[in-house]
Parts: sequence; C-alpha cells; structure tokens
Amino acid sequence: MKNIESNLKEKRTFKPSEKFVRQANLKNEDLATLLTKYNSEPDLFWKELANTELTWIKKFNTVCTGTSPFFKWFEDGTLNVSANCLDRHVETDKKNKIAIKHVSEENTITNITYNQLFSKVNSFSSGLKKLGLKKQDRVIIYMPTIPESITVMLSCARLGIIHSVVFAGFSSESLKDRINDCSAKVVVTVDSFKRGGKSIRAKDTVDKALDMGCPSIDHCIVYKNSSEKINFTKSRDIWWHDIADENGVIVAPEEMSAEDLLFILYTSGSTGKPKGIIHSSAGYLLNCLLTNKWVFDLKNDDIFWCTADIGWITGHSYVVYGPLALGATVLIYDGAPTYPGGDRFWKIIDENKVSVFYTAPTAIRTLMKLGDELPSKHKLDSLRLLGTVGEPINPEAWIWYHKNIGKENCPIVDTWWQTETGANMIAPLPGIYQVIPGTCTKPLPGIEVEVVDSEGNKVQNASQGGNLVIKKPWPSMLRGIWGDKDRYINTYWKKYDNKFYITGDTARKDEDGNIWIMGRSDDVVNVSGHRLGTMEIESAIVSHEFVAESAVVSYPHEIKGEAIHAFVVLRDNFKLHGEKQFADELREWVKIKIGSIAKPERISFSTNLPKTRSGKIMRRLLRNIARGEKISGDTSTLENENILNQLKDIF
Ligand code: WT7
Repeated sequence: MKNIESNLKEKRTFKPSEKFVRQANLKNEDLATLLTKYNSEPDLFWKELANTELTWIKKFNTVCTGTSPFFKWFEDGTLNVSANCLDRHVETDKKNKIAIKHVSEENTITNITYNQLFSKVNSFSSGLKKLGLKKQDRVIIYMPTIPESITVMLSCARLGIIHSVVFAGFSSESLKDRINDCSAKVVVTVDSFKRGGKSIRAKDTVDKALDMGCPSIDHCIVYKNSSEKINFTKSRDIWWHDIADENGVIVAPEEMSAEDLLFILYTSGSTGKPKGIIHSSAGYLLNCLLTNKWVFDLKNDDIFWCTADIGWITGHSYVVYGPLALGATVLIYDGAPTYPGGDRFWKIIDENKVSVFYTAPTAIRTLMKLGDELPSKHKLDSLRLLGTVGEPINPEAWIWYHKNIGKENCPIVDTWWQTETGANMIAPLPGIYQVIPGTCTKPLPGIEVEVVDSEGNKVQNASQGGNLVIKKPWPSMLRGIWGDKDRYINTYWKKYDNKFYITGDTARKDEDGNIWIMGRSDDVVNVSGHRLGTMEIESAIVSHEFVAESAVVSYPHEIKGEAIHAFVVLRDNFKLHGEKQFADELREWVKIKIGSIAKPERISFSTNLPKTRSGKIMRRLLRNIARGEKISGDTSTLENENILNQLKDIF
C-alpha cells in the first residue's frame, strides 16, 4: 500500500515537552521499575497491579492459569465490574464529580455526576431484575452513545448479565443474526436518534429484526429519546420509564468470578459470519484501566473525549470501562462529526475544555481536507494529549494533527490493538517516548509481541515484514468466540501450534524495536477504521436475485484508508439496463443486509471472474486491477486469461 511505503521512510521524531514529562503518570524510572518487575516475575507484576488497581470482593490467589489457548486470569477471585466503576467512587469525594458530559447534536449539554450515574444504574438494574434475567443471560444493546446506553452496560455488569452492543448503524438483518447467535433474551433500544440533523428510527430496525425471527427474545426495552411515534407491541415492548425504579432503589452488585463473561462484541473475520468475541471481567478491566492511566495519562481533572461509538471495542474500553474504573470524566457526543459545520469537533473541545482527545485517522483525514481555517478559529488550548486508533496513520495526517490540533504542544499516541485484545497493546508512553509519525512504537509493559515468518521464527531482517504475534497471554485477551471453540483455535492459534496469539496483521519491526503495522494478512479490510470481512460483503451481494457471483477486494483510499471494490457477475437471464442504476441498487442492498459502512465504493460488472482451473477466484489479480497496478505474479494457473482484458477496461 502506498501509505505504508511512505510511512517507512519517515524519520522525523517528536518528543514530549518538559512540562508534559514532569506531570506524566509514567516516567522513565517508573517504566524501568515496571519492566524489571515484569522480566523477573511476570505473575507478580500482574498480581500487584490487579491487587492495587481493582476492588475485589474476594481476593484471588492464582494469576494466569489454564492451557494454551484457554487462559484464565485471577480465576479464584471475585468482584463486580460496575462496583469498580461506580460504587467505589461514590464512597469518596468523587461522588459529585462529573462522570459523563453528554453533548447532543443540538449542543444540549447534560452533566451526570458519579452519584447520578450510580442512581441511574441502580434504577435500571432493578428494572432488568424484574424481568427475571439471570447471571450470564444475554442482553443486546442497540443504541447510540448516550448516557442511557452506558447505563445499560453498567447495569448488565452489575447483575452479571452479558451485554452485546450492536452498533446502531447495523441493519436489521445484522442485528437479527447477532441476537440469534447469542440467544439474547432482551434487546434495549431507543425510539429514534439524530444524526446529521436526520432522525434514525432505531426501534423500527429492531422491530424488523424481531419480525424476521428471534425466538430467544422475550422483551424489547425502549428508552424515549425523542418525540417520534413508534410501533409498540404490548406483550413484548416495555418503556424504560415504566420499569426503571426512580425511588432511589439500591441493587446490590452481584459477586462475579473474575472469569465470568462481561460482554460479547461481534467483529468481522475472514468468513461470511461475524465472530462474537468474548471478554471476561477482571482481566479486561485491569488492562483497560492501566492503559487509560499509562497511555492516555488520565488525571483527576482531565476531560477525556474518545470519539468512538460504544458499538465498537474502543467505546467499551476508552469511553466506558477504563475511564470510569479510574473515576475520570468522559465526554460523549452522539452527533455527526461535521454537523452543523466542519469545525464541530474543535468547537466541542473548546467549549468543554477537553484535555485528552482520541479519534481515528479517517476522521483526521476528513477534517484535514476541509482546510486549516476551521481548527484555527478555535483556541484548542485545553488539549494536552492526542490519540489515534483503528488503522495506520499516514505521516501527513499525523503532522497535520500535531500542528493544527495539538498546536505542536501535545504528544500523539498511536495505539495499536484489536477487539480481541481488549485494550491497547502497542502504544507510546507519552511522557517517555520520542516518536516517529506512522509507528505505534513498542508494546506496553507486560505485553510481548514479535514479528515472525510463516514458520514462527523471528524475522531477522528489520526491513522485512512478517506476521505480528503476541507471545504471552495478557489479562484482557479474548477468552474465545461465543459458541465456536474451533474457530477460536483455528483463527488465532493453530498456525503456530498454540504458541502465539496471531493478530492477523502484518508488521515490520525497525532497528529500535518500533512496530510499523502494514495491513491485514487475511480477507479482512479496514474501511474508515471499521473492520469488514470481504466474504461477508460478498455473501450479501450474491444474495441479490440478479447476482451470480461476486469478489470483493480493497484499494487505498485517501480518506477512508481502504475502500471496497466489488466485482460482480450477473445471472445469465438478467439483462443490465443501466450499470450505474443497478450498482446503486446493489449498494442499497448491501446497506440493508449489513449496514451503510459496508457499501462498496466501486462496483464493476463483468461476464466472469479470473479463476484457477479448480474454480478458485484469483483475488490477487482483482486486487491488482482495483489498485491500478500491473498484474503481478504468476497467471499460468488462470483458466480464462481473456477475462483480464475485459476487467482492465473497467475504468
Ligand atoms: C485492527 C483491529 C482497536 C480498536 C479499533 C479497531 C487495525 C487498529 C491500529 C493502529 C494500525 C491499527 C489493525 C487491527 N488497527 N489500530 N494504531 N495502527 N492499524 O478494532 O475493529 O478490532 O480492528 O485494526 O489491523 O488488527 P478492530
């Protein structure tokens, strides 16, 4: 990819200001102490951190147990995650501190203190309890990022119920598949929410999903978030305000095992079916909390704005669990980034004195394109640290972010991690590292990564790329895939005989030990920081009655990082009347099947696809074509060479 090539040539380094270094949570000497401890006694390292950072009901004795790839952390200890995020703060003078500052698209600001959030969670927990839900039952959350969706997450955690947040941009069909995969009993949603000035009718989408058949669902709880009228099925649907107890009720937090599951979060893989990544309680919370402290340098007076939606892992770990476990203040905004104007983000930062800001390279590139005048209208002097996540950041965007947003005064943390890792794995320690734009730098204390070849040996030549693996288990690692043990082993462990966790990313390690992420090694693409499986999109396309075959590949895109090109072969008896029109229809179709984020940027039609004699589609060639590259490598196994000429003419 072009970005990667130019990234690797980057040599400029940036170091934190002395002022930043002096106040940093982690200083050079702290890092040295941590590393010495980890290197001599890794179990003791994690044991001490888990003891000091988390509040336990029953102390643990064991640290990391189990046989690879089924690890357990602090298994004989018990705790409650919501008590760690709420109860332990309301017992202190943090009780009147703002936990959540919610900025709506219309710029209505709602401040919720720890005490108020505690009450909201208790009152909603009492409502959930009335429905007879039991420990480890599943609840789906199909809501935007508002205080109430966070309330549901924490209420589930309080009762030991496993939540699964489904991004509210997913279609009814995607929602139905996720509900059925984990046999959820309850879905919680809103009537509607606003995005870019438009009403998005979430409850209608839920109705459609349930109409398609979700036998496990008993109830749909609806939070009234607007004045829109919705359909209401009396026996099934319940208004939030009808079950949440408003009378200062207290619901005792359930005593949960450290290893009980906290949530399932679906993500794309290299097959057509999304995987329900499962995370457990104590280990997950520990790495979330530590990275908020170490990487985001969170302090008591910070206002932390992570722009991620709670539908993604970033929202789970850096909007909800990590910052709240630390007793920090988070800002949430559930509107469009450029509404009503391209400087909305910068306006929010100034008006609310945001000090730590975390977003995705695709957002930075989008806002960068709108010009430097927009951020220059704002002071942005409350900011002291910036972060990025989701895809490699190109040096141009990094420098723009550094100059125009950070005013050359804020360290930037480029954080590499995954839904599966639960928390940041590779990221700079902002008060310590000098960084080069484009590298996520080094693994955090306690995390061991390597770049290996296909045999699992360390890649010797630093300029050569290889597979990025994690060599040792860590507390917030995924515990598996919901209901699919084999897929867990096959996807993440089997290739190297359960020795390493396979990230699916390719990377390069330079002479200084910095990691440069190059891309994915599987059929997963990264569009605007969202992970999508090419097979998933292909199966959506071929489910259209006029389509015979489809192959989906990605190509580099200026704003989105990667974009999707779908090659489509139509059925014999279907005559195309207007390619553009049908391409638009197919895009809508993908939106209905998966959601807007999966819509192909380009669709091209042909009478066949390049295939081997055994009928396997040669995606490599399609990738060359989509990227405007010369056809590389061997084409001798190609059965229908003439198809290449037809495809080359598509542009
Ligand atoms: C994939 C994980 C982790 C939250 C957001 C996405 C890519 C993530 C970086 C980064 C280069 C990155 C990787 C990874 N990725 N962060 N800082 N630099 N690439 O979570 O949907 O689970 O996707 O995103 O390819 O495997 P996700």
